[in-house]
Amino acid sequence: MNAGIRQYVQSALGRDDAKTVSVVSPRRDLLANLKAALREEKRFRIVTIQGNLSQVQSQFATGAQPQVLVADLRDDIAASISSIQTLRTSGFNGAIILISDTLDEAALRGMLRSHVADWLPAEAETREIIEACERALNARHTEGQSRAHCLAFVSAAGGVGTTSLAIQAAYVLASRARDFSRTCLVDLNLQSGCLADYLDLEPRFDADSIRGEPGRLDGRLLEMMLARHATGLALLAAERTPTEAPRADGRLVTSVLSAVSDTFQYMVLDLPLAWQDWTFNVLAGSDRIYVVTEFTVPAVRRARELSDAIVARFGGQPSTAVIVNKFRQRWFGGGLRRHDASEVLGNRLAGFVSEDVELVSEAINRGEIVSTIDRSNHVSRDLARILLKA
Ligand SMILES: Nc1ncnc2c1ncn2[C@@H]1O[C@H](COP(=O)(O)OP(=O)(O)O)[C@@H](O)[C@H]1O
Ligand SMILES: [Mg+2]
Repeated sequence: MNAGIRQYVQSALGRDDAKTVSVVSPRRDLLANLKAALREEKRFRIVTIQGNLSQVQSQFATGAQPQVLVADLRDDIAASISSIQTLRTSGFNGAIILISDTLDEAALRGMLRSHVADWLPAEAETREIIEACERALNARHTEGQSRAHCLAFVSAAGGVGTTSLAIQAAYVLASRARDFSRTCLVDLNLQSGCLADYLDLEPRFDADSIRGEPGRLDGRLLEMMLARHATGLALLAAERTPTEAPRADGRLVTSVLSAVSDTFQYMVLDLPLAWQDWTFNVLAGSDRIYVVTEFTVPAVRRARELSDAIVARFGGQPSTAVIVNKFRQRWFGGGLRRHDASEVLGNRLAGFVSEDVELVSEAINRGEIVSTIDRSNHVSRDLARILLKA
């Protein structure tokens, strides 16, 4: 394990991650009821403080801050609102929930300025207060985090070009977004992936460092496990372990993908040919699934079969389509024609990607992306057209 990553994981493991809710109120009965109701609560820990916020405000300015502060303003509205403003300006960034009688205009304005998450009437019941805390905690969790748009590339057969097309797809999406740094390629061939080699990068993902605690993979740790291509594209790939059994289970894979999804705008997944326990789970979280095949009769048939099986499982959502790679026009003799492949695939067909043996193998051998070798090549033009249709 990379020494920097090991150190970071150890410090993260030492952290106490239980969410804390602090409740400040002059009412002893309210605090006692809340404590009793939350005795069995595992989602968060409650700390009660009897008094007015203005008296105890200094406790929140230093040291560990609660994720949620519930302040009962009963006797002390104006002073409490000004305490909240002071807390905010001194960097308190937990969610704030207020309990009070009707507020006047000045108090309301102060509340808005301090980004108060919720307001409850003075007579609110214990249950309503707990629900407001849960809402605030959930909102915190998702705040500012939108999911990445996710394309999954699955092979219908070996060597059809899934990895090459996944790389090219990431390039197309990132160029369109004009921001390469927010697109992440993920090599899910954890045992024998070669995506990093295709881009001449060092694989930096280390499953062992988060085994048993995949929830620890936060933004900073993830960034340490990414390799970056010269274009800015991010790559999550693990070192190959050709003689070992797979080292990642479904929980680990899905947690890693959810961390990637929270951080990036686009993610492109290169899935292993062999179906894993977690493959369907990963596909379920994608926005679009591309089954990649090549221009031969058996490969096209397998693509039909596989796409049928995926559609049968998901009922069309996420949508699934087949890309026929290594397409070449044959002018003479028998063999497969475009029309034959289209007939087998019917409405599952997303499109054909031209064969260009020299260009694609040059890209692989040089650790380059085909578009950076030849800006107007057929492979990327065909693929871009297919991606645009979705
Ligand atoms: N459009 C294409 N034209 C010509 N050769 C291709 C094309 N796409 C992929 N290849 C070749 O097919 C082989 C397998 O590609 P790869 O991307 O590793 O496929 P997979 O991930 O399905 O195993 C490589 O030798 C690559 O050069
Ligand atoms: Mg591959």
